[in-house]
Amino acid sequence: MLKGKTAIITGGSRGIGEAIACEFASLGVNIAVIYAGNKQDAEKVCQKCEKNYGVKAKAYQCDVSIFETVKETVANIRDEFGTIHILVNNAGITSDGLCAMMKEDAFDKVISTNLKGAFNFIRHCTGMFLKNREGCIINIASVVGLTGNAGQSNYAASKAGLIGLTKSVAKELASRGIRCNAIAPGFIRTDMTESQADNPLLAAIPLGRMGETADVAKAAAYLATAQYVTGEVLRVDGGIAM
Ligand code: NAI
Repeated sequence: MLKGKTAIITGGSRGIGEAIACEFASLGVNIAVIYAGNKQDAEKVCQKCEKNYGVKAKAYQCDVSIFETVKETVANIRDEFGTIHILVNNAGITSDGLCAMMKEDAFDKVISTNLKGAFNFIRHCTGMFLKNREGCIINIASVVGLTGNAGQSNYAASKAGLIGLTKSVAKELASRGIRCNAIAPGFIRTDMTESQADNPLLAAIPLGRMGETADVAKAAAYLATAQYVTGEVLRVDGGIAM
């Protein structure tokens, strides 16, 4: 069903993005990996996709928060791959601190990357999706976008915003055959959560373990094929936010 399609995965050079790139490649999807700075890691992911699954994969350096850069990057990907069918907005950062003491820059950076970054890619890919009369957008949000989290007001706001963006875009584009969904992961073992190993909240996970990147990648593959699902927020969190 996905064989021969092309997907953009932002932040695809490591962690959850890398796992989604590999999962999609295993299903025959060609991959455009967007990375911020680590070219070597991004190229490694591409080589893995090409070597293990025989798909085409290419890395593009692009700061997702910059509108014009994203526009150029999407145009370059279209020139290289012909078109784009799937967009996964996965790039994200944290800059934690209590709201009362948060620096303006910490708020702005997190919103620009996590929320505006997704808008930028949706904005520049939608023309192609409309032309193709198909398209699939998957936004990687977070359970803290549903529940809030002390010390993460900027991050939670960006992820709650992403959920609002997901549902609005889903409503705007459903009649044109374009679906837009979000995944809300809980604690997933990646570089981002390295410092969370002794977070007491981990003991409250009903399924009794941290998630693996593959758990999120499988959910993304499901959403990429679920033709009757749009505007959904799929929690992949071991039950912590139910
Ligand atoms: P990570 O830190 O391992 O990877 C983030 C990726 O985003 C990296 O490849 C990084 O280069 C890229 N990135 C960051 N800023 C960028 C920019 N301005 N332009 C382009 N790329 C940029 O993080 P992880 O854990 O793999 O997270 C992936 C997504 O999942 C993020 O959106 C994160 O908020 C979300 N998430 C992660 C959870 C976890 O427990 N690890 C839980 C809930 C959500």
